[in-house]
Amino acid sequence: MRLPSRGREGAAERYAFEMSIFRDNLLKGKVAFVTGGGSGIGQRIAERFAEHGANVMLVGRNQERLYLALTAIRERGGTAAMHATDVRDYAGVETALKFTRDQFGEIDIVVCGAAGNFPAPVLGMSANGFKAVIDIDLIGTFNTCRAAYSHLRRPGASVLAISASHAFQPIAHQAHVCAGKAGVDLLIKTLAIEWGPAGVRCNCITPGPTDDTEGMRRLAPTEEIRARYRSAVPLRRFGAKDELADLALFLSSDAAAYMTGGIYLCDGGSSLVRSGNMTGAE
Ligand code: COA
Repeated sequence: MRLPSRGREGAAERYAFEMSIFRDNLLKGKVAFVTGGGSGIGQRIAERFAEHGANVMLVGRNQERLYLALTAIRERGGTAAMHATDVRDYAGVETALKFTRDQFGEIDIVVCGAAGNFPAPVLGMSANGFKAVIDIDLIGTFNTCRAAYSHLRRPGASVLAISASHAFQPIAHQAHVCAGKAGVDLLIKTLAIEWGPAGVRCNCITPGPTDDTEGMRRLAPTEEIRARYRSAVPLRRFGAKDELADLALFLSSDAAAYMTGGIYLCDGGSSLVRSGNMTGAE
């Protein structure tokens, strides 16, 4: 049985939130390091891991958001700590990882969830704007994985990156994310080869339009644009953060022990049909 949690008003209606198909305490005693853990999909993944008995380190740029996320987990009986840093700062990520190791021990699960996005055509973004997203999405994922390796339980650790269908399909006004996420997918696949012999699995989760996230608020700021997004999804609804959290839980569990180097879509089929210019901007 899953504990009730808050803030699901906007979530997809046809997903059975209160029941879990997973057995309780699937991650009991495991240690999870989650970047982007203070909000959105990363936060919901961190919550799910804590519900299942993991000790969770929340990492992000915004101290206040992290604190709120931390408090929510603790109020529901979970074990969590937080460390504010920017994934673009390698030394900061190293410090966060060392703090995690000191607090909880060897790290079983790493989630690279920190991401940046804003809709703009290439001619509407500066070189620094493009670089900001590449730095967060791609370099941030590299920094996290590279710095985490010496702290990972080997064999046994699982590394997950939150990618996007931008990695394999062009989307107007999203050149920075397309370039960054394409890099993330290939980085993770390469790590799966390099780290497989040490027993470290590396996979990507690819969300589609997911409700109640900063990304959707930025990309679909009006009801009209939301409706356009929704009608383009084969399953005709937005995804829920819970659905991605359950995928992360499965991939981080022993049930996925032979799964590495995979790109796992949880997008309602949207990447089969979606491309072009979803923002509707000129
Ligand atoms: N259109 C065009 N350019 C934009 C922009 C927009 N909507 N928003 C930001 N930029 C540009 C800035 O102008 C700046 O370029 P400049 O120095 O040449 O002017 C550059 O991007 C960096 O912006 P800044 O705000 O200084 O960077 P930041 O590091 O504080 O923020 C972003 C990074 C831009 C990715 C910001 O959107 C962010 O913090 N996002 C995190 C949250 C998020 O995006 N969540 C959704 C994840 S899917």
